[in-house]
Amino acid sequence: TTHGTNEVGGMNGSVVLVTGAGSGIGRAAAELFAGRGARVVAADRSGSAAETADAIADAGGRAIAVQADVSVESDVERMVAAAVSTYGTLDAAFNNAGIAPPVGPFEQLSTASWELSSSVNLRGVWLCMKHELAVMVRQGHGAIVNTSSVAGLVGNAGGAAYSAVKHGVIGLTRSAAAEHGRHGIRVNAIAPGLTRTGMLRQLEELDENLDADVVASQTPLGRVATPQEIAEAAYWLASPRASFVTGHVLAVDGGETC
Ligand code: NAI
Repeated sequence: TTHGTNEVGGMNGSVVLVTGAGSGIGRAAAELFAGRGARVVAADRSGSAAETADAIADAGGRAIAVQADVSVESDVERMVAAAVSTYGTLDAAFNNAGIAPPVGPFEQLSTASWELSSSVNLRGVWLCMKHELAVMVRQGHGAIVNTSSVAGLVGNAGGAAYSAVKHGVIGLTRSAAAEHGRHGIRVNAIAPGLTRTGMLRQLEELDENLDADVVASQTPLGRVATPQEIAEAAYWLASPRASFVTGHVLAVDGGETC
């Protein structure tokens, strides 16, 4: 990759916060943004954000790592403050951190599983947006991209809690887009299909009958996505190339929901 290229409509020099940047889609996105010249704040609950920031620096890019749990408001406040204190601004945010859904029959879904799924996948996105928007409203510009899922567009047999909170991410996205367009802020979401990450491996381990490659073979493009393919969609929505796109949900699913 060429670092710091002045691509028209690109993000050279922009400050971009990525949550869940330690692994999978978030890591791919952090590296993609940095590879195109953005200054990246790589945030993760685990220490793996530091590995992402190191990899970016090794490749000649600019990044800092922040350890933060998106479901904890004080962590989110510290994370957003780190972006502003280090780089002076916050141009874009990719709220991507999420956890694998507890799978099982609807009637057996426990309150603990429900709370866990919603605390990270919904409250986490809401808390990030809340504190990012505060900065973006003040500065009069910004772009937010949230990670929903195919499960946020259609029902998910065996994964009701995950589906419900991923639908909720779309409600947060559209509401913030409606409220803050007049402040020069765009808010969009992506809905990835099956993507080859640690989360998918975890799901396959939890459910011995699940082979993602077999499931994906039934979809129009017939395969799972790479994390880079999902990151490209997030990049486009965050970039000025998508300057008239807001409140939109972009399925990046190989045609699964078409
Ligand atoms: P992953 O498990 O590879 O990466 C998720 C990262 O988020 C991990 O580094 C993890 O430490 C971090 N994280 C988890 N909880 C956190 C918290 N409370 N605070 C901060 N960081 C936290 O998973 P993957 O696949 O890259 O998932 C990224 C997003 O994409 C998630 O929101 C997921 O729901 C969504 N997604 C994934 C799909 C897939 O097939 N892999 C399909 C559709 C959506």
